[in-house]
Amino acid sequence: MASEKPLVAVTCTAPVNIAVIKYWGKRDEELILPINSSLSVTLHQDQLKTTTTVAISKDFAEDRIWVNGREENVGQPRLQACLREIRRLARKRRNTQDGDSLPFSLSHKVHVASVNNFPTAAGLASSAAGYACLAYTLAQVYGVESDLSEVARRGSGSACRSLYGGFVEWQMGEQADGKDSVARQVAHELHWPELRVLILVVSAEKKLTSSTVGMQTSVETSPLLRFRATSVVPARMAEMMRCIEERDFQGFAQLTMKDSNQFHATCLDTFPPISYLNDTSRRIIQLVHCFNTHHGRTKGDCCGDRCGFQVAYTFDAGPNAVIFTLDDTVAEFVAAVRHSFPPEANGDKFLKGLQVRPAPLSDELKAVLAVEPTPGSVRYIIATQVGPGPQILDDPNVHLLGPDGLPKPDA
Ligand code: DP6
Repeated sequence: MASEKPLVAVTCTAPVNIAVIKYWGKRDEELILPINSSLSVTLHQDQLKTTTTVAISKDFAEDRIWVNGREENVGQPRLQACLREIRRLARKRRNTQDGDSLPFSLSHKVHVASVNNFPTAAGLASSAAGYACLAYTLAQVYGVESDLSEVARRGSGSACRSLYGGFVEWQMGEQADGKDSVARQVAHELHWPELRVLILVVSAEKKLTSSTVGMQTSVETSPLLRFRATSVVPARMAEMMRCIEERDFQGFAQLTMKDSNQFHATCLDTFPPISYLNDTSRRIIQLVHCFNTHHGRTKGDCCGDRCGFQVAYTFDAGPNAVIFTLDDTVAEFVAAVRHSFPPEANGDKFLKGLQVRPAPLSDELKAVLAVEPTPGSVRYIIATQVGPGPQILDDPNVHLLGPDGLPKPDA
């Protein structure tokens, strides 16, 4: 039934982020507080983003949420925690002298609709972009201007890093109430314009162990994870920040790969063990090392300036690889991936996102790519770059909810 009553609606978008120093393990499950700090790169929303509309009206009988067109249970504890938290911040703001300008009551219910512009079936982490977008859009509706780390974090830990563009640190904090467990930008999205990101989408069944459950078991059983959190990550955070500040690709690439490998080592050290990588992931790791070794040799060992590491990989809780490289290397590396993992069909749709010109592979490089070609095991590549944080969309035509507060038919 269409409502004629006034309705406030806001639509925003938020990005995906990829950690180069991984978050794995919580010290507080309820508040979602991590056992170590982490650092991520925000990916460009031209390729990967979540769009969310939040509408508020006195006519709504209850809070409701639709994700990718399907209504979901609004009672999920993490969703409830986000809603509770933003309403608390809105109330706090209203109670200050200048904050009483909202055109609705804080007791009114909200409708939320959210869509991803990338296939969920690809197994790409969507919860970070999703909860960051929810937190950011709710904040626009409620006029909340304070730091939103806590709101996003209560949805999914890694989501607080998607509140900013560029390079983002999530400081673990020390306080029991989590007030100092916040995300902050360490470098702007235009700081390192040559950096490129390739997502190699690997054929996979649904993931067996969610991050939430996986990291809980790791905290309970892995001595390596404890060592990592206390004795490895603090120095790595400082070193990664230096690499980013100085645009030191050598250092960035090496540390990114080592940190991904250590995260997966803690998964194997978990009991019972968890393995997120599959054979294709391991072949990609081998391909990257062969590619780097080849370039190290042709440019002379340890020549200083970017000699050894042209490309770096990182893997989250699944088999997809995220590759970092620089603009002058991306075409040759894509050619190497095509050579080792030739598309089975639809070769023209193998590469999505940013344009990458075709590049020839030298016979020497072909010879050192030790992996036997395995057709079809990389389904496609998304080429992207570092991007900005959440955005507000001003055009009311982009709202995913209609004037009746229900999802538009095509949303
Ligand atoms: C491997 O943020 O998905 O991607 O806080 O339980 O929702 P919850 O976990 P989540 O974990 C992400 C883990 C990771 C590493 C990272 O992004 O830092």
